[in-house]
Order: sequence, then C-alpha cells, then structure tokens
Amino acid sequence: MEFKFNVNKLLPRKINKVTHTLIPEDFRGDRRELKFQRSHGIHNNPSECQRQLSRVLDDMGEASARAQGLNKPITSTLKLRDTDHVVYLLVDNEANNGLGSVVGLLKTGSKNLFMFDETGAHYQLKPRCILDFYVHESRQRMGLGNILYQHMLSKWHRILYSGKLVDGLKEERDKRLLHVGFAIEKVTRKEEDIRPVKLAIDRPSEKFLAFLDKHYGLSKIIPQNNKFVVFQGFFDDERQDV
Ligand code: ACO
Repeated sequence: MEFKFNVNKLLPRKINKVTHTLIPEDFRGDRRELKFQRSHGIHNNPSECQRQLSRVLDDMGEASARAQGLNKPITSTLKLRDTDHVVYLLVDNEANNGLGSVVGLLKTGSKNLFMFDETGAHYQLKPRCILDFYVHESRQRMGLGNILYQHMLSKWHRILYSGKLVDGLKEERDKRLLHVGFAIEKVTRKEEDIRPVKLAIDRPSEKFLAFLDKHYGLSKIIPQNNKFVVFQGFFDDERQDV
C-alpha cells in the first residue's frame, strides 16, 4: 500500500513495531515535540509522524477487514489507544520509487479468556493472541506473511541498516551494534519470544488456518466456546501446574 509521504522515513526498518504511543521504533524526527506533548498531557494534537502512522494503521486496518469480509476493522489508531497491543508493519523499502510501501500487518495483544482443554477442564487465562494479520493482495503466497510471523515470534533480531540510517540509532539501547562491510548490523531486544502453539488466534480465516498448518504444523484445533482458536499443545504447561 502506497502513501503520499515517505514511508521509509516513517518506518525505516523492514519490520516496524508500533504501539499505542504511535512512535515507531527508530523514529528519526524531532522527539522533543512528542516528549513535550506527553508530559503536558496533550493527546489531541498529534505530531506529523503520529498523523502519518495513524493513516498507515487505519488504511491497512481497513484493507485487512475488506480481505476478511468484516464490516469493521480490527486494527485502527483508535483501537490501539490504551491497549498493550503491538502492531508489526512490513515495509517494501524499494517500492513506490524508493518512498517505500507498507505490504503487511500483524497485530498481537493479551486477552482475558475462559478456555477449555481437550478433557473439558476450564481455565481462566490471559494468553498472547493474534488479533489481525494481513498481507497485501499483490504480495500474498510469497512467504512475506511468514517473515512477519517469524519476526513476531522471535527473541532476538539481526537487522541490517544501510549507512544513511545509522545516525538515528545512536541513542538506542542496543544489545550489540557492529559493522558488516558497508552496513551496520544491530541485534535488538526480543519481540514476543513465544512458541506458535502458545498463541490464541482470534477468528482465523481459512487462509490463516492453512498458513498455520503449512508453516507450523498446527492443525488439531481444541474447540472453545468463544471465537478464539487454539491448537493441541496450548494447555500443556497449564496441566503441569495442576
Ligand atoms: N488460499 C489458501 N491458503 C492460503 C492462501 C489462499 N489464497 N494464501 C495464503 N495461504 C496459506 C497457504 O498455506 C500458503 O501456502 P501455499 O501457497 O503453499 O498453499 C501459505 O499461507 C503462504 O504463506 P505466506 O506466503 O508466508 O503467507 P502470506 O504472505 O500469503 O500471508 C495471510 C498469509 C496473512 C493469511 C494472507 O494470505 C492474507 O492476508 N490473507 C487475507 C487476510 C486474512 O485472511 N488474514 C487472516 C485473518 S484472521 C486473523 O487475523 C486473526
């Protein structure tokens, strides 16, 4: 999905993490404006970066809803407010004459759920959930969805930055930052650090179910009384505690 503004400047990584603050990781604009607003409780006067990010989230959220045949988007700026939700945005940095385009979205979050295991025993849990997942129609079935999913699951990331992006990284609390030829490699902090079987999936589409079976061998569904889907193995740690 293309935008009039420079997506690469707003979202400089291949996969960019966004939370309710609407400040992307590695944001390279003026943070003082954002800090001032936060410390003065100003939430109704978003910065340009927040306005642009808002546009990306709302447009991608609507495209995802259309792709799933939903009336209302699962992902929007408004819905991100006051939540622990994390949105991962996948960017094609080369697209749109070098301005970049947003090609994928994955949203996670924790939910209080009343759940049943295979024996009918019930649990009150707050698992990490997959709430929304979308890859642009022109890019589906090329492995991009799994790149996004793998990133979300992982503990550490190795990120390659071109020289010109490095300036904005100086203040980062990096685990490690080292030169690799002309690029800079950064090993950054963990994402969800979770096994695929431990995630609850909010109303998965047929495509997503096929995706989980293909990439993670998840096919044995444990029926629930709500719209969430979990697979065999989800309750294994719970049972050890009993
Ligand atoms: N029909 C059947 N299976 C599909 C399809 C399709 N049209 N598209 C993807 N898949 C599954 C298949 O298992 C496929 O493997 P195959 O091509 O060998 O059959 C596999 O996904 C491909 O994996 P990736 O290329 O890594 O995945 P992709 O980039 O296509 O992203 C996604 C997967 C996000 C589900 C994408 O297809 C999409 O956006 N679909 C429309 C929106 C959607 O259904 N989102 C999930 C909603 S549910 C939720 O968010 C909780």
